[in-house]
Amino acid sequence: MPRHFLTGTELTGDELAAVLDRALALKADPLGSRALAGRTIALVFEHPSTRTRVSFEAGIVELGGHPLVLRPNELQLSRGESIRDTAQVLSRHAAAIGLRTGSERTLAELAEHATVPVVNMLSPDHHPCQALADLMTMREAFGAIAGRRLAYVGDGNNVARSLALVGALAGVAVTVAAPDGYQLDAGAGAHLTDDPASAATGADVLYTDVWVSMGDDEATADARRAALAPYRLDDALLDRAAPGAFALHCLPAHPGEEITAEVLYGKRQRIWDQAENRRHAQKALLESLVPPVE
Ligand code: CP
Repeated sequence: MPRHFLTGTELTGDELAAVLDRALALKADPLGSRALAGRTIALVFEHPSTRTRVSFEAGIVELGGHPLVLRPNELQLSRGESIRDTAQVLSRHAAAIGLRTGSERTLAELAEHATVPVVNMLSPDHHPCQALADLMTMREAFGAIAGRRLAYVGDGNNVARSLALVGALAGVAVTVAAPDGYQLDAGAGAHLTDDPASAATGADVLYTDVWVSMGDDEATADARRAALAPYRLDDALLDRAAPGAFALHCLPAHPGEEITAEVLYGKRQRIWDQAENRRHAQKALLESLVPPVE
């Protein structure tokens, strides 16, 4: 059975710690591993991407591999070929398959039928590769991260869920502050509140994401912005956080909506390091998932 990475909880806490350690080592020595020499990694994007696509492509090249970016409209999927058959064929050529999809069912079906590792590159409910880079960015800042507090303010979406699930494996306490109707479900294990000020008080990291995500109905966008306006990540919220706290944002950002330009481009953020860390964290993940050629 291949080892998939669909929610992030496929890893144990020790395995996650090893991936984060390895990610930091790869950042210090970006060309130090040829773990994917001669291997092809298929990257299927149903939806647009900047960070995920570029970081996976560049990271796979640094590991000596070949990133094969595929869009469904270029595949026979667009003409009715099944996910099952696509999974089987891709598995005969690629050492792993990444998928960005608008359907949890498509992701599950691909994972069920692939004979190589499947990596979730964003689905409606999860964004575990983002969470890996977020935790790596905390490791970089703090060293040990167990016991650190992360407050996520805004829409309780897939990014918030992955932070809660994967953060728990690392011992990071995640609080999600969101208004009624936009809150994360209790199953992810985060502490839930509707009060951004109390969530931010004493936190080590403040985190936010866009208020209107891919897949959200544009017809409800104005209502979403109105409901989420009190949850903007600004300097006043950061002032409540612990000394040395910083802001994270998975990007793309809408300065003036979920985050102020002052925070996004200011000194109390590690957002651009976080964007870079996607590459290093995913390289470490691929090293851990893709077995060497026998
Ligand atoms: N954070 C993130 O996944 O960015 P992209 O949508 O640009 O890949």
